[in-house]
Formats: sequence, C-alpha cells, structure tokens
Amino acid sequence: MSKSDQVRVLVILASVRPVRAGDQVLRWWLDATSPVLSSVGARVDVADLRDVRLPMDDEPDAPHQGVYAQEHTRAWSARVAAADAFLVITSEHNHAIPASLKNAFDHLASEWGGKPVAWVGYGNTSSGTRALVSGKQVTTTLGMPSVGPDVLVRLLDWPDGVMVQDPARDEIAVGSLVELVRVARALRPLRVVPVPVHGLPADLVASRAGVGDVDELVALQRCCWVDEAIANDMWTLAPLREGPGAVEDAVRERSVLVVRRGARLVASVQSWPVGDDLWIGRLMVAPDQRGRGVASALLRHVESAAPAGTRRLRLSTGERSEANLALYARQGFVRADGQDGVVRLVKRREARSAVG
Ligand SMILES: Cc1cc2nc3c(=O)[nH]c(=O)nc-3n(C[C@H](O)[C@H](O)[C@H](O)COP(=O)(O)O)c2cc1C
Repeated sequence: MSKSDQVRVLVILASVRPVRAGDQVLRWWLDATSPVLSSVGARVDVADLRDVRLPMDDEPDAPHQGVYAQEHTRAWSARVAAADAFLVITSEHNHAIPASLKNAFDHLASEWGGKPVAWVGYGNTSSGTRALVSGKQVTTTLGMPSVGPDVLVRLLDWPDGVMVQDPARDEIAVGSLVELVRVARALRPLRVVPVPVHGLPADLVASRAGVGDVDELVALQRCCWVDEAIANDMWTLAPLREGPGAVEDAVRERSVLVVRRGARLVASVQSWPVGDDLWIGRLMVAPDQRGRGVASALLRHVESAAPAGTRRLRLSTGERSEANLALYARQGFVRADGQDGVVRLVKRREARSAVG
C-alpha cells in the first residue's frame, strides 16, 4: 500500500495533567494496535495535548474563518488537517471531556470536518462513558461521525494505579481502529470538493489544495523539478529546495489546485495576483501522466478563472526547458525577458467587454 493510500490517524491524548493515567492508556492503545497497523493500512501520529500547548481561546478571529494569528494554532491546524481520522483518548472531568480537549477542538473548524473519530474513555465510576457522551456532542457539531465500538477503561479496577491487561479490551481497540480506517477511507472522496477543469482526463479530479496535501506536493514538486534542474544544469531552483513550510505558505496564500488520480496526487498549479498581473507557477504533472493534456488544461483553467481586471498572465521557466517552452507557446505566451538561464513569458489578456 502506498503512503498516500494509508489512513492517517491522529491519536489525541486529552489529559494535560502533570501526573496522569492517560500515559498508560496511550501506551496500551499503541501496543494493542501496532501489530495490525500496516495490515489495516493506518499510519499513526500522536498528539499529546500537553505538548501541543494551546492557550485557552487566544485567536482574534473565529476558527471557521481559517485565519490564525498564532503560530501554535497554525501548527495545530496543519496537524489536524493532515489527518484522515482521529482516535481520542480522554479522561472524564465532572461528567464531561477535560477542558484541554474542548479547547483543542474549539481552536479549529473545517480541519475536523468529514473525518471520523473513535474513542477511548477512562474514568472512575462510569469508566469515562459520560466524557464520551459530551465529546461526541462536540465532534458531531464539527462534522465528525463517531465510530465504535467505544473502548472504556475503569480506573477503579487498577490495583496500585497500574493498568490491568485485558485481551478482550485489546480486541475492542483493534475492532474500533478497523472501523475507523474503513469509514475514513469511505469518507475521503467526499471531502474533496471537485473543481471542474475543462479538458482534464476523466479519471483525474481537480480540487483546491489544503494543508493536508502539503507532503505529497513537496514530493511531486521535487520529482518534477529534478527534470528541470537536469535540463538546465541549474541546481538552485527554489521549487527543488522548498520544504513543507514554504509549500504550506503557498497553499494558504495562493490559489493552488491539485489533481488526483484516485488517492494519488498527480498534478498541481498555483496562481497569485500581483497588481493587474496574474503569476502562474509550480505547474507540475507526474511523469507517468504527461502527454495527456493535463498541463494545458490547468493553464487554460487558471486563465479562465483569473480575477476580474487581470491584464497579463506571467510565468517563468528554464531557458532549456523545451517541453515547457513549447507548451507555453501553444497557449499564447510570448517571451518577455530573460536572465541567468530563466525565461519570463507573458500573455496579454484581451480587455473584456463590460457589457454582454
Ligand atoms: C477535575 C476532575 C474531575 C473529575 N471528574 C470525574 C468524573 O466526573 N468522573 C470520573 O469518573 N472521574 C472523574 N475524575 C477522575 C479522573 O477520571 C481521574 O483523575 C483520571 O486519572 C484523570 O485522567 P488523567 O490521570 O489521565 O489526567 C475527575 C478528575 C479531575 C481532576
């Protein structure tokens, strides 16, 4: 199974108390499920909210606007957005989830939506049942279906504060992970809102990029720009060296389209306005998908979706990138200037009539 087919499960440890039973519950869950992770096709990232360190509600804007002033919120947003599913391990505080978990949910909005959540609750008298009831009220509001079976751990059964092993509970944990992965996989396509791109082959789907696409974008970008570096004997090209941080900035600040074939990201393009110019960049198509008209379709789409008032489309490429130069020429771009092996091209747009 390729990495992009795997379901990325973010395991959230809710308790932030300095001494906590949660450490043992987390350790147990990881031990119980690790033997089946690769066979069920899951990849696990653990978010211990004590390390995530989110202050209480400290963003000026409401989370549904998706604009975050604080670095810790941006980091949390990227982590949650990159996940396909969540496994929440939570204690019970006064018959509800602890405030740390509610705050972690409340910091974000769309990053959670359309992704399933499975639960491990622990507590004294009710084994965390009431925490799960209150947590599910929150996650339902965020658009996250809960999948079962719930795993419940009764702390009163722990002699000397040490978690008791129970093979039946291990089985429930595995069963809930299997269900989580199954539902996450089914929901994946629903999370993609297709952007119609005229001329794109029928087996490819375009959508707006999200921060969850960043890792695959970095990989595809490096793959594509190695070709450029070889053709132009130029190894300092920014797209070849950009890491996840720069690509994530682009996803947030520019208009970025990604194209998938099934689960696999196979093409992308970015555009961003500068004055009344629209710059186009990072146009890339995976080697095995070239020759199918994908790049032309993306270019035409960017042009047709350009903001009103755009007078010129601009892009640049290597002086020796012959396939690119031929493609851009076919699309009506002409050479504007060039320097140090890089050619800049421009396409003037006809003034659009204000009437008709
Ligand atoms: C503020 C507070 C409220 C609690 N309320 C409940 C409760 O309503 N029901 C329950 O079963 N346990 C309750 N407990 C006990 C916790 O379940 C228990 O302390 C557990 O160890 C907390 O998880 P942690 O050690 O991982 O932080 C409460 C504990 C605290 C600190």
